[in-house]
Order: sequence, then structure tokens, then C-alpha cells
Amino acid sequence: MVSVTRIPVLAGNWKMFKTLPETVAYLQEFKILVQYAEGCEIVIAAPFPALAAAADTVRGSRIRIAAQSLHWETEGAFTGEVSAAMLASAGCSDVIIGHSERRQLFGETDETVNRRLLAALAAGLRPIVCVGETLDQREANETKDVLLSQIDGAFASLTSDSASPIIVAYEPVWAIGTGRTATPEIAEEAHRILRGRIREILGAVTADNVRILYGGSVKPANIQSLMSKPEIDGALVGGASLDPVSMAAIIHYQS
Ligand code: PGA
Repeated sequence: MVSVTRIPVLAGNWKMFKTLPETVAYLQEFKILVQYAEGCEIVIAAPFPALAAAADTVRGSRIRIAAQSLHWETEGAFTGEVSAAMLASAGCSDVIIGHSERRQLFGETDETVNRRLLAALAAGLRPIVCVGETLDQREANETKDVLLSQIDGAFASLTSDSASPIIVAYEPVWAIGTGRTATPEIAEEAHRILRGRIREILGAVTADNVRILYGGSVKPANIQSLMSKPEIDGALVGGASLDPVSMAAIIHYQS
């Protein structure tokens, strides 16, 4: 067996929080707080209007800037939408795709997740693809089936070469913003299911290298126990990422 090192990714998803000046003030403080953080990648997903300023503010640091969604077309009459090339030109390197709030509130489906994923890859953006079951699905013992079909749908028509930069985030819907974190064991089990499916579709090399993040009520107090699991390669942090000190504490989970 070949041992692989997956560099942890700690990503903050701000959702619909922070104006442009608030973004700049946060990142000026945050980049100093994390300047000596090594051995991990740091990503901040800011709202669209603040992306270019966010990218300017972190220039020269290791912080990567992500968008929270994108449209799959390159351009056209799609009022209110934003393309992959627009995000790249604003200084984004990463983009979150298929967050459960997009799926639940904005009608996103596995098919549109797949289209967005292909568009992001074509423009050189690194996708962070979110999957996860609802509480009803977990209680009905459907978690495995839901995760497998979300992965199959998101990754349709991908080849192992094109898939290599993708990050997956397992975010059980019942743990998002609820204060109810999945136990490290529950998360580990879901990650194993996801990686197993990625192995079946895209082969062992891709599966061994893809980073699978856990998301759902991650905080400074629980990051260490989550990261102690070999299958957990990082975290996608919502509420606790809104405060630079708390996000920096999550990034420094090893110290
Ligand atoms: P939370 O959100 O950390 O506030 O639970 C996570 C997410 O939605 O990505």
C-alpha cells in the first residue's frame, strides 16, 4: 500500500455575511493571525461583491479566496448569475459548489452541481463540492445511498485527470448551523463511503489524493478530535469562520 499525504484544507464559508469593508478589515487581521500557520491550506469563501478586494487584501499570503457558487455558462443572458471566468478574473482560486443551502433554498440538483463543477474546472478554479444527508434521510437509514448518488451525480462524465484538484466537503445537513456536530466516528464513516465511491469511479490514485473535508458546526473546541481521524482531511467552517480569531484558532488546531 502506498501511503499518501493529504495536506489539510481549512476553509471558511461566510455565506451571506460581511460587506466589502468588513471583508477587508477581517482579512487584514486574519492574515497576520495565520501568517505562521504551516502544513495546511487556508481558504476563505467571501460574498461576490467582496471577492476582488478580498483577493487584493491577501495577495502575498497563503490565503486562498473562494466564491460560494457560480453559473455553468461562460456568459449570456442570465441575470444575477456569475461565471467561472468572472470569478477567476476577480482573483478567486476556489469555488464552493452544491452547498446544502443552495440545494434546499435555490433548487440546485446533482445535475446542476455537475454542470457547475465542469465549468469551474474548465476555468481553472478548484471546486469544493458539498454533499450530505438530511436528518430524515439519516433516520431512514438512507445516508449511504444519498451520498453515493450525490457523488455519482456531481462527478458524472469526469475523468480522473480532470478530477485531480477537486475537494469534497461532507456536510450533514442536520449539523449545519445547529451546534450539533457529527461525531468524528460518524464523519469518518461517511468519508470512507465517499472515498470508496470516488475510488470506484475515478480510480485509486484520485481517491487517495482527494481531500474530503467535514463541515457542520466545526469550532475551535471540536476541530482537533475531528482532525484526529485519518479520513478527515480538513473542515469547511460556517459560523465559526466569521470571527478571525476563532477561524485562526481552528487553523492552529495542532498547537
Ligand atoms: P456551520 O456551517 O459551521 O455554521 O455549521 C457549515 C457550512 O454550512 O458550511
